[in-house]
Amino acid sequence: MVNLNEIHDFFQNCFEQYGESPEGVGWNSDSAQEIRFNQLLKVIQPADSFSLVEYGCGYGHLIDYMEKVGYHPSRYYGVDILESAIQAAKKRYGNNPAVSFHRSLDEIPEADYLVASGVFNVKLDHDNVTWTRYIIESLDTFNLIAKRGFSVNFLTKYSDYDRMVQRPDLYYADPCFLFDYCKANFSRNVALLHDYQIYDFTIIVRK
Ligand SMILES: C[S@@+](CC[C@H](N)C(=O)[O-])C[C@H]1O[C@@H](n2cnc3c(N)ncnc32)[C@H](O)[C@@H]1O
Repeated sequence: MVNLNEIHDFFQNCFEQYGESPEGVGWNSDSAQEIRFNQLLKVIQPADSFSLVEYGCGYGHLIDYMEKVGYHPSRYYGVDILESAIQAAKKRYGNNPAVSFHRSLDEIPEADYLVASGVFNVKLDHDNVTWTRYIIESLDTFNLIAKRGFSVNFLTKYSDYDRMVQRPDLYYADPCFLFDYCKANFSRNVALLHDYQIYDFTIIVRK
């Protein structure tokens, strides 16, 4: 079973050290954070009104990014296990009545879309089988919550071998396995985006 307390403590340390910044939620750089957002938002049909769940929202930087690139959800629900990130996000965006932040998916209703960025990258000392099972269970839940579609990113197993062996705490996912799982279980319309330079891929499930 996954020990979410350990995962919580990892992100808590990042946030205490670097605060409201890409590094504070475990990213190396600003540009990688926004490159990932750009891919994830492709699940959305922005011409229509839509509600959005961001699972693993950190301090909520996706809200600023969506504003910058012209996505305007009618309702945004941010979810994160980290109370300090939730509190920071509430301070930044809490005066917007269309935005709310939560500690668990149990607290929110169904929504049109769900996106999740960087939630499954850090596995710490969990073994690959346990972590893969955790991902699959999470995808099953995303599928129940998101009526129109969801998108999730992962580090890729097609990363440089010498880098991967130096980071046994990270999970390098198999894009073909996850694509196949989504296609077989969730929708006929699944996209695998693995063409955006960083060692990462995005799966988009459209209902
Ligand atoms: C790499 S950070 C990315 C934050 C944000 N998506 C961004 O790109 O700025 C991953 C976030 O997922 C959160 N997280 C990890 N596991 C989670 C879980 N099981 N449920 C909710 N949040 C989780 C962490 O606390 C952290 O804030």
